[in-house]
Amino acid sequence: MNVIEAIEKRRSVRKFKKNEIDKDILIGILKAGICAPSPKNNQPWKFVVLTDGSKKELVKIIENGFENIKSSFGLIIDEKNFLSSAQATLKIMEEAPVIIIVINTENKNADRQTPVKKFLEMANVQSIGASIENMLLAALEYGIGSLWISDIYYTVDEIKKWLETEGQITAAVALGYPDENPPPVKRKEMDVLVEWKENCIS
Ligand SMILES: Cc1cc2nc3c(=O)[nH]c(=O)nc-3n(C[C@H](O)[C@H](O)[C@H](O)COP(=O)(O)O)c2cc1C
Repeated sequence: MNVIEAIEKRRSVRKFKKNEIDKDILIGILKAGICAPSPKNNQPWKFVVLTDGSKKELVKIIENGFENIKSSFGLIIDEKNFLSSAQATLKIMEEAPVIIIVINTENKNADRQTPVKKFLEMANVQSIGASIENMLLAALEYGIGSLWISDIYYTVDEIKKWLETEGQITAAVALGYPDENPPPVKRKEMDVLVEWKENCIS
């Protein structure tokens, strides 16, 4: 599959078969993630691969986190919607045989930021995004479906404590053999998204 084909064929997969993924394939996917560009090649990422028992434990931690949120404060309407979406995503995580937690290892002193550091912080997040997209595209090449997940935001503190890790939990990626073939999701038109400027702007 060429790169353009892969970019166009990738879909968010939310239904997975139970089959495990070979470690060699997972290594291939992670290698693709590690190949992503980063500011000054600082490679601001770390990946924690959860399967079997550790993945079940993650799901429990998130479930408990949701219970605490519901009982600790009254959610405003928007947050209720976010929480029900996060609960739906958790079901997907439960079914996916592999979850990769992506950690930003560079963003440590968010409270003492100069403008340059703030920009670098954004650059680190951009490269982590590139690394995740690389993994999703590589997964496709191996016949593996994937879902990029940010619905873990309610429980990042609990996940970080459980993993005993430094850094910032940035995203999760669910992987598994697809049990659905989702159609493409509509994109905005190119002329809404792109401005072409050919002459000098005075
Ligand atoms: C940063 C990011 C976070 C996302 N988080 C979630 C999520 O938590 N749950 C979910 O079901 N989908 C999530 N998605 C998938 C998007 O809903 C999906 O990419 C979008 O609807 C476009 O569909 P496509 O990926 O099939 O092209 C996320 C995607 C991105 C890029």
